[in-house]
Amino acid sequence: MSIKLRSVFISDPVDSSCADLLTSHGVPVTAKYKLSKEDLIQELQNHDGLIVRSETKVTPEILSAVPNLRIIGRAGTGVDNIDLQTATRNGIVVLNTPGGNSISACELTCAFISALARNVPQAAQSMKEGRWDRKLYSGFELSEKTLAVLGFGRIGREVALRMQSYGMKIICFDPMLSAEDTAKVGATKLNLEEIWPLADYITVHTPLIPQTRNLINADTLAKCKKGVRIINVARGGIVDEGALLQAIKSGYCSGAALDVFAEEPPKNPVTLELIKHPHVIATPHLGASTEEAQKRVAVEIAEQFLAISGISDKYRV
Ligand code: NAD
Ligand code: MLT
Repeated sequence: MSIKLRSVFISDPVDSSCADLLTSHGVPVTAKYKLSKEDLIQELQNHDGLIVRSETKVTPEILSAVPNLRIIGRAGTGVDNIDLQTATRNGIVVLNTPGGNSISACELTCAFISALARNVPQAAQSMKEGRWDRKLYSGFELSEKTLAVLGFGRIGREVALRMQSYGMKIICFDPMLSAEDTAKVGATKLNLEEIWPLADYITVHTPLIPQTRNLINADTLAKCKKGVRIINVARGGIVDEGALLQAIKSGYCSGAALDVFAEEPPKNPVTLELIKHPHVIATPHLGASTEEAQKRVAVEIAEQFLAISGISDKYRV
């Protein structure tokens, strides 16, 4: 398959190595961010390629109004901000860069688990406010604690590998993997009903699909061990934010670390209350935000554009 690629529009901040690689192969690139829907539609009349991260929502309405668009590239993993059905119906190819940011998302998850155990952000903030409170911020060891990894794909398994070096026991659930597969990386596959009462920490690494929406909800939280801590560096919507807030306010859930939210940036009062809760660590979708990951996904998506358009033999797949 070869797609004629005359020019590319980039609508979210993507590392400059993407535009550099495309332009060095004679493909003109225009980059403009934070466009309204109308302005994006207007721009896309003149381009056959579009590159996005997660901010641009490529909706059916946009896709139906851009007859010249042939390829969309997601410089990242999740393609849930692109309406795949309409893109497919309109003959638009959608590409992504799975794996390019897995290690970065994994490392943020590991940092979250350690920070939750030792109250690092809260204690650091108290020092900036001039306090010296050693008792309030006493924490827990991770050694011998149980970490449940829900979704044992690229990121989940890297988290499992790293957290074993802290002495954590890893249990996991992934419908696509056998117990033999997960045992190879030291994780015990269990079903969800077995996982809830055993886990001290639960980290989710699934895509957001109907089967995983609100995977962590009021019912499943009630089945968890008292004191459980929840981590979400995957997608907003996998954890029910209202149920999590209630569980934290009641003291049943001891804390949460969240990088992603049902709505980004969050505006819902429940989400905002959750973010402000002293037992919650929140970051603004930073899982992939490292220099290394951003360069990798930028170059990978440009290489795929060059390959699919047959512009460079070097990148032909
Ligand atoms: P992956 O496809 O490699 O792994 C996902 C795994 O989830 C698969 O093994 C799949 O079998 C499993 N799964 C599917 N349905 C499931 C279910 N119902 N229960 C349990 N497991 C299920 O994906 P990945 O690259 O590891 O990415 C995981 C998530 O992290 C995605 O949602 C991705 O968008 C997100 N992500 C976020 C950031 C960030 O910046 N915060 C960065 C990278 C990726
Ligand atoms: C992804 O799915 O790759 C992440 O959401 C990271 C990003 O924001 O690009």
